[in-house]
Amino acid sequence: MTPSRIHRLSLTHFRNYRAASVSTRGDVVVLVGPNGAGKTNCLEAISFLAPGRGLRRATLEDVADNQGEGSWAVSAEVEGALGLSTLGTGIEAPAQGGESVSRRCRIDREPVGSAAAFGDHLRMVWLTPAMDGLFMGAASERRRFFDRLVLAIDSEHSSRVSALERSLRSRNRLLEVRNYDDHWCGAIERETAELAVAVAATRGQTAARLSAMLRERAQGSAFPSAEIALDGWIENALLSEPATAVEDRYREILRLSRARDAAAGRTLDGPHLTDLQVVYAPKNMPARDASTGEQKALLIGLVLAHATLVAEMTGIVPLLLLDEVVAHLDPNRRKALFDELAKLGAQVWMTGADPAAFVDIGANGEIFDVEAGRISRRG
Ligand SMILES: Nc1ncnc2c1ncn2[C@@H]1O[C@H](COP(=O)(O)OP(=O)(O)OP(=O)(O)O)[C@@H](O)[C@H]1O
Ligand SMILES: [Mg+2]
Repeated sequence: MTPSRIHRLSLTHFRNYRAASVSTRGDVVVLVGPNGAGKTNCLEAISFLAPGRGLRRATLEDVADNQGEGSWAVSAEVEGALGLSTLGTGIEAPAQGGESVSRRCRIDREPVGSAAAFGDHLRMVWLTPAMDGLFMGAASERRRFFDRLVLAIDSEHSSRVSALERSLRSRNRLLEVRNYDDHWCGAIERETAELAVAVAATRGQTAARLSAMLRERAQGSAFPSAEIALDGWIENALLSEPATAVEDRYREILRLSRARDAAAGRTLDGPHLTDLQVVYAPKNMPARDASTGEQKALLIGLVLAHATLVAEMTGIVPLLLLDEVVAHLDPNRRKALFDELAKLGAQVWMTGADPAAFVDIGANGEIFDVEAGRISRRG
């Protein structure tokens, strides 16, 4: 099993970093510094070395240094599934005409079509404070969270999800027209159903495998186990029925609900509405009813199980980005987290405002001080 490791990371005009770089030696990288120093920004920069919109779901323009000209770049020397390579991504300064910018991705300085290609080298998984409200929040957040888990396994998943959203938008727009063309609508629905089944199938398989992994790990982990299930009929139907049958059924539903959907202004059935149900297994209660600390521990357990699954399925141990996770744990759980991470064999980037949280990090840990967009090794 190959771990994904960053040996050197360089940031140029990325949020509050003008030009910064970090060289790491080992598997445990700790960033400490005061609020607003740039710790989360650094993890966010790393998260752009994966497909998708990064860990804050920011736009490409938003992450550019607001003191700069609009361009930004992140590059990393990584040791991954294909040996040593240099991954780079970023945008050039947006043109004055206001046309939309696109993300450039390079591997060993050669342009590649999209960030999905980074998946051949490196996989990653993250946990941030923004995910704390996951179990209380909207279904859309849990769906996005789960799609992110799927994406770490299948690098093409986000492009299929985007294609499904585009297809649904085309249908909704067409239904707004009073005398739309039936054949045209049927053609869009055929595409929608095809994409819906593709998206739902990968989700359903991932949910089944992750459930099994969670059960397998339940005994040996210091973190509580979750029971997960997808609340979406297409995902569930695909587990026992042929894809063509499910696709036909969904296409028929779309056809029959044109008037209803036109009145609503949106499509009222489909995998774009799927929710992820999570149960706090030790107490057999919905995760949303668990305490704040229980929910946090549950999320950590979920992320560790997912990282193990990514390793098992892709052969690449994912990089872990843990933003402000350690400070919330009691000393026993903290120790358990460090032990479980070591067992996983992943490179982990952790942040915290308080250096005291990392005293038992062990000899493997490298501590860096972050201060006003500068990163320096603690000597
Ligand atoms: N596009 C941008 N250009 C320049 N600076 C930015 C940009 N976006 C955010 N910042 C600044 O980056 C700073 C650091 O943010 P970051 O979230 O990384 O801090 P942090 O070290 O994680 O702090 P905390 O401990 O509070 O989580 C903030 O003060 C923010 O104002
Ligand atoms: Mg932060």
